[in-house]
Amino acid sequence: MWEVLTGRRDGRISRQSEALSNIPSPFFNFASLKQSFANKSLSLHDLVVLSGGHTIGVGHCNFFSNRLYNFSGKGDQDPSLNPTYASQLKAQCKTLLDNTTTVAMDPGSPLSFDSHYYMALNQNQGLFQSDAALLTNKESSKIVSKLLDQDGFFTEFGQSMKRMGAVQVLTGSNGEIRKKCNVIN
Ligand code: HEM
Repeated sequence: MWEVLTGRRDGRISRQSEALSNIPSPFFNFASLKQSFANKSLSLHDLVVLSGGHTIGVGHCNFFSNRLYNFSGKGDQDPSLNPTYASQLKAQCKTLLDNTTTVAMDPGSPLSFDSHYYMALNQNQGLFQSDAALLTNKESSKIVSKLLDQDGFFTEFGQSMKRMGAVQVLTGSNGEIRKKCNVIN
């Protein structure tokens, strides 16, 4: 748990067309991920900690099946992907075109919020390229190893969530303080 500041001003208009240009893609490499977080004044540490949000939930096959069937355009598999894990994923995502099947992002522990995501990651079982990318840089892989400590992860996650929650908050008379957080007033 972490304390959430009240009185945050939010916009009244959301456009689907603007969303993708503001969020990182699961196909991003380390440099692009770091840059996209930096664009919102979030650090490399925030990137690794917040990626731990993938401890729960699922991803659609089409966001990673290139890693199984056509990684470098030659019908190959991503060499950085754990081969046993890749076989399990192939059994679930049968073709490159499957965009309806979903797969747990934290294999073995998809329903509990814990530090198991980092354990899976360290065993080359990161589902997206963007997860696996966290091991391709010395500084970030060090942070991954630190976050295997669950109490440490919980503390850091709360702090980074607070920072992410303060990104581009509107000020003055712009936007409004919502009565319900998921809808405009
Ligand atoms: C680091 C960059 C990130 C990338 C590239 C990324 C990418 C993705 C993708 C592609 C999905 C699957 C969507 C789908 O198939 O429907 C997903 C799901 C999810 N992400 Fe991320 N994400 C990132 C950061 C985060 C952060 C910061 C959080 C929260 C702290 C987060 C929490 C989640 C959760 C909870 C789901 C599961 C949603 C569900 O089960 O329906 N992700 N993410």
